[in-house]
Amino acid sequence: MRGIVTIDGPSASGKTSVARRVAEALGVPYLSSGLLYRAAARLALEAGVDPGEEGALLALLEAHRVRLLPGQENRVLADGQDLTPLLHTPEVDRTVSQVARHPRVRAWVNARLKEVPPPFVAEGRDMGTAVFPEAPHKFYLTASPEVRARRRTRERPQDYEEVLRDLLRRDELDRAQSFPAPDALVLDTSEMGLEAVVQAILAHLKD
Ligand code: DC
Repeated sequence: MRGIVTIDGPSASGKTSVARRVAEALGVPYLSSGLLYRAAARLALEAGVDPGEEGALLALLEAHRVRLLPGQENRVLADGQDLTPLLHTPEVDRTVSQVARHPRVRAWVNARLKEVPPPFVAEGRDMGTAVFPEAPHKFYLTASPEVRARRRTRERPQDYEEVLRDLLRRDELDRAQSFPAPDALVLDTSEMGLEAVVQAILAHLKD
């Protein structure tokens, strides 16, 4: 595999687990674009920076030398330290969409992703549409909000109702950049387990 595989979809659609497994099967790194937006949100929360302040967010990303470390386990570094374990909290979940709205923050994230030499699997919202439109293999995962909320409840210290509320709010805020590329294969994973989704993608890549 020499090219780029993109896997997009809404939050908790299974993109990260699927992208990791597909990359592993192909023997290539995987990139999670959401981690870079999450890093910006986390740094803003820590510094008390308003997530609406685009210039201040960019200054934070530069000052802390935020970098992606692609690999079988995609990681984000800030000041040379691994920030990844701090990026999946309810606070970051609630802030990240405000951060991801800014065009210059998006351009900064996209530039970091484009520095990585292919082949790789990239996952996010707009990998197949805005960032790597030339990618030869594109997938878009969907699932009902209820199924996604049930999955996410296993990963957060929140109850189902709260997770569902946050998730619907984030769907709304992320709507502008969350849609399938015209040449993406759309997979509804509501009734599929992780392994079935991975196998469907690998079978499609083989064809
Ligand atoms: O995939 P995730 O839940 O880790 O993404 C976190 C947030 O980042 C999500 O709310 C939307 C934003 N995001 C984005 O706007 N574009 C991407 N390519 C990836 C994530």
